[in-house]
Amino acid sequence: MATAKKNSRKGQGRLAGRVAWVSGGASGIGEGVAELFAREGARVAIADNRPAAARAVARRITATGGTAIALATDVANERSVARSIAATVKKLGRLDIVINNAGIVEIGDLHTHTEAQWDHVMGVNVKSMFFAFKHAFPHLRDATRGYVVNLGSISSFVGQARTPVYTTSKHAILGLTRSIALDYAAHGIRCNCICPGITETPMLWEHLNVRSDPRAALNERLNRVAMGVSLSPLDIAKTALYFSCEDSSGITGTSLTIDCGYLTAAEWQCTGPTAFQQPPKAP
Ligand SMILES: NC(=O)c1ccc[n+]([C@@H]2O[C@H](COP(=O)([O-])OP(=O)(O)OC[C@H]3O[C@@H](n4cnc5c(N)ncnc54)[C@H](O)[C@@H]3O)[C@@H](O)[C@H]2O)c1
Repeated sequence: MATAKKNSRKGQGRLAGRVAWVSGGASGIGEGVAELFAREGARVAIADNRPAAARAVARRITATGGTAIALATDVANERSVARSIAATVKKLGRLDIVINNAGIVEIGDLHTHTEAQWDHVMGVNVKSMFFAFKHAFPHLRDATRGYVVNLGSISSFVGQARTPVYTTSKHAILGLTRSIALDYAAHGIRCNCICPGITETPMLWEHLNVRSDPRAALNERLNRVAMGVSLSPLDIAKTALYFSCEDSSGITGTSLTIDCGYLTAAEWQCTGPTAFQQPPKAP
């Protein structure tokens, strides 16, 4: 039974035969991407600066018949990224997909920030994408079809209170996405950006947990969202999958906002329950 399950993934799925490098794959959205991509037949490298957590995700994927490796990686450090990508190619044989997902937030007013805090957020959120692209490029080119997916945010389009460096970094990612799309289309590489809204991950809860009633704080934020619900890592992973295969052929340099309607209105007050808060009726 176990063997049948294990074999059932081999050679199947929309990413069969592909290799994906997923930064920040040890938790939240990155973990969701790693799991979905493995289910779709990709061999996955989970690059994270929390190696024990990355190994746990890789073990879970392997236990259910997928192929995954964990790589201790600091995405803000070029040598570390270069080693991580080289190890991916050495252990998994090739590289087709780069998911630049690792990200951090620094909360505070700009005038209180240090240069080191600024550099740290910009390093993890933006410079990391330069490093990953630079070292992945020869492999993506060799694959003749390469896919780069950068994680932006609704903060790529609007300001959010007390996160000035994060907001700056997420705006910058749109520009970098367009530049890569333009300059590397000739090599068969497409580059797109995903901009999530309120997604339930450890990062989100870390920020909500400083409030006296975190669940009430989340619900208060969801009142500003048309659909009245939060997103799951899988919701975001499904779009990463779309951008990482030929389902999205012809799309490059663009961004896709997945926010349950958060940015649809300048102001919104959810006045009652929405149907999205209940499971759909069976057809
Ligand atoms: N959760 C949300 O509501 C939300 C909304 C919009 C955008 N995003 C973006 O999605 C991405 C993933 O966020 P998440 O919510 O899953 O966060 P998360 O904190 O749950 O996961 C982020 C992962 O990145 C890793 N990481 C952090 N610094 C690193 C470094 N220097 N090197 C390697 N790995 C590092 C962490 O160890 C962690 O595993 C981020 O880019 C974030 O900005 C999240």
